[in-house]
Amino acid sequence: MADDKSELYRDLTARLAALIAGEPDLVANTANMAALLYHGLPELNWAGFYFARQGELVLGPFQGKPACVRIAWGKGVCGTAASLGTAIVVPDVDEFPGYIACDEVSRSELVVPLVAAARVVAVLDLDSPRRSRFDDEDRAGCERLVSVLLAHQRDWPAAFAGERRWAAASG
Ligand code: SME
Repeated sequence: MADDKSELYRDLTARLAALIAGEPDLVANTANMAALLYHGLPELNWAGFYFARQGELVLGPFQGKPACVRIAWGKGVCGTAASLGTAIVVPDVDEFPGYIACDEVSRSELVVPLVAAARVVAVLDLDSPRRSRFDDEDRAGCERLVSVLLAHQRDWPAAFAGERRWAAASG
């Protein structure tokens, strides 16, 4: 079983690299990565990104049901992973204090922060309808996938500087 899982992550990593090759757009690449993971990993009901925006997390590209748009830094599984800068595996969401329920079907969760230029710029969030769906191999596999994306999006911090200017311009 473990071999199947490591092979699955190897395959997903190769497919991600092929999907984003030659494409610099952050939204396009995170959208395709969310779709790749949602359809490529078994037993998920949600897969997507939250982007760090002016001290909070804001919903980015995802697959699954419509979700909470804004999450405060340090709140929920996503905000906690963002503030700690480390991945969090939650075997049972009912036992995570402050868990934010977006889809009542979710029973377990994995959140991996994306760190660029020493800042958490986003988190990858995976939800499953099965308790204890995610283990250490999923965490390591998703951290590797995230590192492939980050190595490709080297201008991510600059993209965020632009975002702050747009937000200021629109009041
Ligand atoms: N459950 C997350 C919120 C995001 S949704 O699962 C898509 C949390 O507690 O941070």
